[in-house]
Amino acid sequence: MNDAMGMPQSAVVLGGTSDIGRAILRSLVARRLRRIVLAGRDPEALIPVADELRALGADQVDTAVFDVTDVAGHQELAGKAAAQLGQVDLVLVTAGVLGDQISDEVDPEATARVLTTNFTGPASALVAFSDLLRRQGHGRLLVLSSVAGVRVRRANFVYGSAKAGLDGFAQGLADALVGSGASLTIVRPGWVASRMTEGLRPGPMATTPDAVAADVVAGLGKGASVVWSPAPLRLVFAGLRLLPQALWRRLPG
Ligand SMILES: NC(=O)c1ccc[n+]([C@@H]2O[C@H](COP(=O)([O-])OP(=O)(O)OC[C@H]3O[C@@H](n4cnc5c(N)ncnc54)[C@H](OP(=O)(O)O)[C@@H]3O)[C@@H](O)[C@H]2O)c1
Repeated sequence: MNDAMGMPQSAVVLGGTSDIGRAILRSLVARRLRRIVLAGRDPEALIPVADELRALGADQVDTAVFDVTDVAGHQELAGKAAAQLGQVDLVLVTAGVLGDQISDEVDPEATARVLTTNFTGPASALVAFSDLLRRQGHGRLLVLSSVAGVRVRRANFVYGSAKAGLDGFAQGLADALVGSGASLTIVRPGWVASRMTEGLRPGPMATTPDAVAADVVAGLGKGASVVWSPAPLRLVFAGLRLLPQALWRRLPG
């Protein structure tokens, strides 16, 4: 169960090697998080993440093989995580790929891969884990969306449209969970310096995984339904939504 400050004691991370996910876990272990299931594609890559969290004070860190595109396995993973953790206080959905807009937009299979990894797969996982949280009568889903989905840009519309779909799905699911005891928080970061953006030119108001984690922890404490990171992006995008399409389509990637 969450502690009195709204901080989780147990968590499942879907995308356990994510830089942003790791930063959130480090911040939560520094508070009350003690039992964790790290789910990811490569079991070897999860080992150093588990070691780091144990060294910081986590009592139990288990790993599980998870591919977000393998939707048939999501329900089973939710059952396994519940068996390992007992109560699941937090489910972090961090799996995602940026893709390569220039090649993806002319390649049907690559487009489908980016959409499945960022939208269909995470949506399926949200359904599997929301079912678990509903039955528990408590627990929070935390979904990594992106400002790229708030208004989709020509320069990254494959990734951006997938995040727009995921964000909309998560908003609807959050409403569906009202009254169940379970809840959902959407995180909308801007440009974050992580493995995903390595080698790319930083975007405006670029931030770091640790700064996103600090915003997430503050949001969890308040029971926020949406966390923008950095926070001023909420106002920036309120304005950008009004920009004429002829200007919007010229914005760089
Ligand atoms: N970085 C940014 O600027 C930024 C901004 C806004 C939102 N976000 C979102 O934040 C989330 C975390 O991103 P990050 O910056 O921490 O990047 P990251 O370090 O590259 O993390 C991405 C994670 O997704 C996992 N993943 C990719 N494909 C997968 C699949 N098919 N099945 C399971 N896991 C898969 C990766 O696992 P592997 O180790 O197996 O590759 C990795 O754990 C993503 O959803 C991203 O879209 C990032």
